[in-house]
Amino acid sequence: MQSHILILATGGTIAGRSSSALRRDYRPGQIGIGELIDRVRPLAPQAVLEGRELAAIGSEDITPDLWQRIWTQCDAAMRADTVNGIIITHGTDTAEETALLLDLTLPTAKPVVLVGAMRAADAVGSDGLRNLVNAIRVTADADAAGRGVLLVMGDRVIAARDARKARTSGTDAFRGFPRDAVAAVTPHSLDWFGAPWAARRSARFTFPREFPEVPILHAFASMEPDLVDRIVGPQTRGVVLAGFGEGNAPRGVRDRLAELARRGLVIVRASRVDEGIVDREPEDDTAGFVAARSLGPAKARVLLQVLLANGVRDAVAVQAAFDER
Ligand code: DGL
Repeated sequence: MQSHILILATGGTIAGRSSSALRRDYRPGQIGIGELIDRVRPLAPQAVLEGRELAAIGSEDITPDLWQRIWTQCDAAMRADTVNGIIITHGTDTAEETALLLDLTLPTAKPVVLVGAMRAADAVGSDGLRNLVNAIRVTADADAAGRGVLLVMGDRVIAARDARKARTSGTDAFRGFPRDAVAAVTPHSLDWFGAPWAARRSARFTFPREFPEVPILHAFASMEPDLVDRIVGPQTRGVVLAGFGEGNAPRGVRDRLAELARRGLVIVRASRVDEGIVDREPEDDTAGFVAARSLGPAKARVLLQVLLANGVRDAVAVQAAFDER
């Protein structure tokens, strides 16, 4: 039986076009979803595809408003008998943030798969069509539900919580941490590494009506504590530190952040290092800090915004959400 898949298009390089296959200056979001579906249909006979164009942007321009529209479409599709799974075409720059946001706020009853490309549709060695064929194979698979939101890039399937863009270029730009790929996929094969881990899970959080202000403070050698005051305003509800090593920062900066924690802001220590765990340390108890564990700064910010919007402000409860796998 054919699977009915709704494809929500938002733009990105997967819909990008250049004036010449050899040029670098392509523009994302140039190819409509109708044209993409026409190209992919002969390669994906296992699915009936329906496209909806929500935006045609580079994902560096994603906004809470577009997040809301993506979520609303996914939420409706979760309840529609006519849809078996959802694919979202997305720029790769912020795909990990959108993926985690949807993972936290949607049930796992039907597969939701983000897909992008590192090379424009008309570039030499373009990866978009292959990634889309792979995404359809994953979404149409009977075993794909119950794994939360997934990201398909470079013949690999990575869970939203683990996924991150780890390279600026190349078709193998995405990595998973702490868990690497949960499946390998090609246009003619799909191998899951283990059973679904979140079968029939309801949405864990309500989609935020507003996204609380949470800046990221990036650590650098010899940074001065007053930088903290410059990024925190009256509406700021929390700060994510992209710290050195295991979420570290100069003494003066830590003291200033502890002061903010005493005033009720939630302070999450993440790391500017690409990969690794930021664990709790004894000072977190006295300063009231939260350790980001396996989440990098950008995703730690998304999780903290979702928590704050859902009324989770207490450092112990926030830590529990960061600890959860
Ligand atoms: N700026 C990029 C974005 O839409 C285009 C690159 C890409 O999709 O990989 O995220």
